[in-house]
Amino acid sequence: MASAAPAATEAGLEILRAGGNAVDAAVATAIALAVVHPQAGNLGGGGFAVTRMGGKVSTLDFREAAPAAADHDMYLDAKGEPVAEKSLVGPLAAGVPGSPAGLWELHRRYGLLDWAQVVAPASRLAGDGFVVTSRLEKSVAKAAKLLGRFPETAAVWLPGGKPPAAGSVMKIPDLAATLHAYAEKGPKAITGGAVAAAIETVSDRHGGILTAADLEAYRPVWREPIFFDAFGWRVASMPLPSSGGIILGQTTGLLERVEWQQVPRFGAGRARLLVEAWRRAYADRFLLGDPATTRATAADLLDDEWLDSKARELDVPKATPSADVRPWSPPVARESTETTHLSVADGAGNVVSITTTLNGGFGCGLLVPGVGFLLNNEMDDFAAAPGRSNLYGLIQGEANAVGPGKRMLSSMSPAVAWREGETVALGSPGGSTIPTVTAQVLLNVIVDGDDIQAAINRPRIHHQWMPDEIAVEPDALSPETAMELKRRGYRLKDRSRLGEVNAVRVTSDGAVEAAADPRGPGSAGVVQSGAGS
Ligand code: DON
Repeated sequence: MASAAPAATEAGLEILRAGGNAVDAAVATAIALAVVHPQAGNLGGGGFAVTRMGGKVSTLDFREAAPAAADHDMYLDAKGEPVAEKSLVGPLAAGVPGSPAGLWELHRRYGLLDWAQVVAPASRLAGDGFVVTSRLEKSVAKAAKLLGRFPETAAVWLPGGKPPAAGSVMKIPDLAATLHAYAEKGPKAITGGAVAAAIETVSDRHGGILTAADLEAYRPVWREPIFFDAFGWRVASMPLPSSGGIILGQTTGLLERVEWQQVPRFGAGRARLLVEAWRRAYADRFLLGDPATTRATAADLLDDEWLDSKARELDVPKATPSADVRPWSPPVARESTETTHLSVADGAGNVVSITTTLNGGFGCGLLVPGVGFLLNNEMDDFAAAPGRSNLYGLIQGEANAVGPGKRMLSSMSPAVAWREGETVALGSPGGSTIPTVTAQVLLNVIVDGDDIQAAINRPRIHHQWMPDEIAVEPDALSPETAMELKRRGYRLKDRSRLGEVNAVRVTSDGAVEAAADPRGPGSAGVVQSGAGS
């Protein structure tokens, strides 16, 4: 089992030791992250889960939805120009939280242990206290301006005007009480009654439109997974409203067509083909949005004929300018910085892959007083003004415009891959870079046979159609490869890090491996005695 915070990984391991399955452990970890990793772990946000339980794959969409009072132009000024802060800071930026009902539903369908037992580690962390890590102190310090704008948030996260000190013990009694009620009554303890009323009150006080009725009306949705074959493996990932599964499927589909596995591993040839594949996949992303309103479907974009035609364009001597790459059908023509991914396997070979987020670090910055958790700023994942770029530099289309009840397009790509008794679960944060990060780690495993730790450690690159440049981690490209790419017309831009993958693997002899990304402070652990990992 691997997650972004040691105390949350420990919560999952505790549940596996108690005889819980992968879903019990994943849900316990996700709820613990809402306490110890408030940058991204959440009850006030949403996410996606991909599970493979007893060989059956399911995908749960607990993505936030736009409040009923949302409208197409809500983030524009009188001249029709987007006002960036509006979709990022404060409760007007918040979608209706999906996590409370989503995590409960995941457990309801697949969990073995009692719900209260699964919530208990998180409730203990909030009530008895947890040790503040240096990452948490630094993250709060970095976000102090945002968190300090709301006295409700500052009272908890900036006591005496300062971030909680690394090594100190932090208790969040309001959150402990919320978790206690959640353990007893399930999601209605949050989406109804006093908690929902407190959310409406604080939202209204700071200019938001979220209501208790929105919370009550929210439902997670089991969706048909995106399946594809890649290099001898079967892979499953998230369908719309995530673009992640489609981008992963297009990437591997295009690479198989150009026999990418035959190209030498660490040279310009492979990097070039990856970038040209991503350029085309992200151009198609322009068409995507909530599955109820999108113009292009997964079937259109993963269609053999479409992929064949795109594959013929990949192996060209010079970079294709992104401006020349058009999406699947005529275009008309925006994603943050903290998300978190956890992966769990149990002794029976079941795996769970969950990516969950508030969007930006600490979401919209507003903590619900008396309740203890932060609200998201996921509304910025909509195209506030179709055709303009967002927090992640993504350009998105009308299909992803704001609308009441709509779910905003995501890049989160929790994935599961398997072949002959072997199973891998993986995923990453990183906004628009999530699908390309996930694709590279997956390719390292399924094409090049890396173990999961090596596959995660390798430096990475990223390209997303617009802006037309390759983001490059330190040492991802040798000087010769970088030179060769520049000669062919590619623009390179240094990036200190891309993504933070947490993954698990069940090997064909039933052994379980878990790996956390050295780019972050996450931790991985395995329960000895074969109970899981
Ligand atoms: O759903 C999405 O694609 C974004 N809201 C994810 C945000 C994210 O990954 C921030 N993490 N580093």
